[in-house]
Amino acid sequence: MRPCRRVRRFWPVARAISAKPQKNYYAAPPQIERGLREHMVGVEGRAYLDMVNNVTILGHGHPRLADAVHRQWQRLNTNSRFHYASVAAFSERLAALAPEGLDTVFLVNSGSEANDLALRLAWAATGARNMLCLLEGYHGWSVASDAVSTSIADNPQALTTRPDWVHPVMSPNTYRGPFRGAGSTADYVEAVMPTLEKLDREVKGLAGFICECVYGNAGGIPLPPGYLRDVYALVRGARRGLHRR
Ligand SMILES: Cc1ncc(COP(=O)(O)O)c(C=O)c1O
Repeated sequence: MRPCRRVRRFWPVARAISAKPQKNYYAAPPQIERGLREHMVGVEGRAYLDMVNNVTILGHGHPRLADAVHRQWQRLNTNSRFHYASVAAFSERLAALAPEGLDTVFLVNSGSEANDLALRLAWAATGARNMLCLLEGYHGWSVASDAVSTSIADNPQALTTRPDWVHPVMSPNTYRGPFRGAGSTADYVEAVMPTLEKLDREVKGLAGFICECVYGNAGGIPLPPGYLRDVYALVRGARRGLHRR
């Protein structure tokens, strides 16, 4: 692709007008104006393999997706409190893909909202407030999803400013953590115990556990095999124990 000769650089404008907490990935970010499939293309003509932009899991410029959005916007643009064919069909397909027992759909706009909703459901279902989360985690920037976010990459004060209902446990980081590699599952599961025991001693209820299934901010690192299965079992057991009292 030929580089464009006369390109207006928007970075100085963006820097002047954007809210300060809205960070860019680079000190002088490339100006990306187009994307195709798994690539992004900067105005200087360089193509980038998009391994950072975690939000667009469908890639860039998918013709079927673009066509579906185009058709729907020509027809109707409203929220999901209205019932219409495409929202019903989409929800039905989504529920059919979900694991056994998950048969209800509540559409939201973003990851932050989805995590807020998950927390509210856990609070409502258990009547408890306390949540276990992982160190190095990121869950969004709404009030509740930020509360369970511990990554200091987004918030340097994260570790000293969590609300008292948030209980971070050791990050099962198989690449940089104290235990490395796929054989570290049992050590990381064991590391959850002191926090559960503390909640037990203090007779505090437990609403749930939240974590990313693949670390984002911590560097695209998968969790050790079986970690979620084992931690879920521990947390469910602890929750039952705590609620029996
Ligand atoms: C792992 C993870 N969870 C939640 C979010 C928040 O999603 P959103 O920006 O759509 O609110 C992000 C956003 O980058 C994320 O990476």
